[in-house]
Amino acid sequence: MPKLKITGGSTLSGTIEISGAKNSAVALVPAALLSKSKSKIYKVPKIRDIEYLLKILEVLNCTYKIENDEIEINTTNLKNAPIPEELSEQMRASYYFMGTLLARFKHVEISFPGGCNIGARPIDLHIKGFEALGASVKIIKNKYIITAEKLIGTKIYLDFASVGATINIMLAASGAEGQTIIENAAREPEIVNVASFLISMGCKITGAGTSRIIIEGTSDLDNGITEVFPDRIEAATYVILGSLIGENLKIQGLITEHINAVLIKLKDVGVNFKKENNSIIVSKCLNPLPTNITTQVYPGFPTDAQQPFTVLLTQANGTSIITETIYESRYISAHLLNEMGAKTESNGNILTINGNTKLYGKELYVPDLRGGAALLLAGLIANGTTILDNISLILRGYEDVVEKLTKVGAKIEIIE
Ligand code: EPZ
Repeated sequence: MPKLKITGGSTLSGTIEISGAKNSAVALVPAALLSKSKSKIYKVPKIRDIEYLLKILEVLNCTYKIENDEIEINTTNLKNAPIPEELSEQMRASYYFMGTLLARFKHVEISFPGGCNIGARPIDLHIKGFEALGASVKIIKNKYIITAEKLIGTKIYLDFASVGATINIMLAASGAEGQTIIENAAREPEIVNVASFLISMGCKITGAGTSRIIIEGTSDLDNGITEVFPDRIEAATYVILGSLIGENLKIQGLITEHINAVLIKLKDVGVNFKKENNSIIVSKCLNPLPTNITTQVYPGFPTDAQQPFTVLLTQANGTSIITETIYESRYISAHLLNEMGAKTESNGNILTINGNTKLYGKELYVPDLRGGAALLLAGLIANGTTILDNISLILRGYEDVVEKLTKVGAKIEIIE
């Protein structure tokens, strides 16, 4: 299995270009099925999850053409078929085929989705939304069988502003008769990205990005076209890295307001950075201050940036407290940081970080995507060499991470 070898101690300068957002792209590819004949998606990141989603398109008799970061998807000969376990279990986002196949065929057979091990991650809110639209959902062994005579638009209130449920219900509602209103919808940029794709196909959607989204169902969608928004979590990760070992490190091609909550917390810690149009220039913070963070749904502090931010807090002089409100177990990587010399302690959804602590290189196993990103950042600031195993989890969320970091001076390579 390939591993990442990271040698600490470099100073990073130059420019890191931000890629298309994984969490948008993995919803946009399944959403393309709503187009009758073809659709086009620009700035698609070359990551493993996209490869698996394209394999699922092949199972559904679709074809696609990839040119650099553009994908043109042809759905003229789309045929419904069960989504096999070996593909659906590769990621959580395979569940977006539920919403699109329900909209197109009123029948879905899909094995359970996968996803990072950061909590139970049920999909009860997705199922409740499909049932509210008139579908019946059965679980047979580890497969969902979802069927509907027809889908009727209705009002759906989400108990929790779930990103996945909001997108999945929007996808299904696009094929319903009449109007669907989603109350307490998630407001993440990914929702706006998917809504703009559906609108380009001819679907009338208003309110995406607010907590009330209205979808007018239609059976005649085609010629979708959209661009994947810049990856706000990749951007946040690299801005945090710049605050650790940057020297005018430029993070280029992001939408800065998408990471406002992270920038506000970086300011609290004493990090100086400059915003320039769609880039941020950041240098190492010499005396980071402790701060407290509570993860929230957008536009609050994003849970996906909590693990990388923890590395910065190990370097702050004093005690910081993180309260994780979105997932029930997202502190495995914090415990692994302790093996590198950090002093963190978790109690339920509260993590206490006592800084500042010197970190030392270690051989570690990546527990999940953003935890892996945290360990990568820690390896870059640690004394000595860090070897990370199970790095496919990192590569699935950070396009060309080795190339991007090497280009700005990091000593990082993939070894067998
Ligand atoms: C998306 O997951 C992202 N993944 C996650 O990013 C991200 O952490 C999350 O949104 C929150 O921003 C993708 O977009 C592929 P949720 P999703 O539905 O849609 C509970 C990463 O590192 N919940 O908002 O699954 C759930 O268990 C990944 O890129 C239910 O209880 O997030 C979780 O505790 C990690 N029932 C919370 O809500 C449901 O039906 C947030 O889930 C759905 C969710």
